[in-house]
Amino acid sequence: MGLYRLIYASTATDIDRDLLTNIIETSNRLNSKNYITGMMIFDNGYFLQLLEGERAFLTKRFLEISKDTHHNDIEILTCGPIHARLFTGWGARYLGSQGASSKILKRYQGGPEFNPYKFTSSNVEYLCLDMSTFAVSSNDVANKLSIAQ
Ligand SMILES: Cc1cc2nc3c(=O)[nH]c(=O)nc-3n(C[C@H](O)[C@H](O)[C@H](O)COP(=O)(O)O)c2cc1C
Repeated sequence: MGLYRLIYASTATDIDRDLLTNIIETSNRLNSKNYITGMMIFDNGYFLQLLEGERAFLTKRFLEISKDTHHNDIEILTCGPIHARLFTGWGARYLGSQGASSKILKRYQGGPEFNPYKFTSSNVEYLCLDMSTFAVSSNDVANKLSIAQ
């Protein structure tokens, strides 16, 4: 019943690198099976994930994700109908303190530390849009598993 986009913030509980790789691989597989695109950022112990897809598929996936004990304190930052996808595939990045993508982040959040709970529903969409432009220009998204440091 139409395309929706959902962006949420959450706090990692016991994440290490192997687990993160695991989550990204599962997400890659299940998201493409469910026609879901988007991206995830992991930094400073927090997740920011953008998911877009058909409303029914998106709801089911999000409900599964929200039950996952590897993160908690899930807050939906924005959710609503969209005309077109921002992302053509699904990708994830680990953001260290360096790199062009972290410069983008700094533009949107007052402080130096990544804290997705501080984003408003409107600036988080612009952030994701900027990140998607960056991802496309650095050939880093579209169904590709990538953890950039
Ligand atoms: C931060 C985080 C993000 C996740 N993102 C996705 C995702 O985008 N798509 C997905 O299918 N699973 C994602 N998962 C994994 C799901 O929570 C769940 O383990 C997976 O969907 C397997 O579901 P199943 O029990 O139906 O096989 C994520 C987990 C975490 C902790």
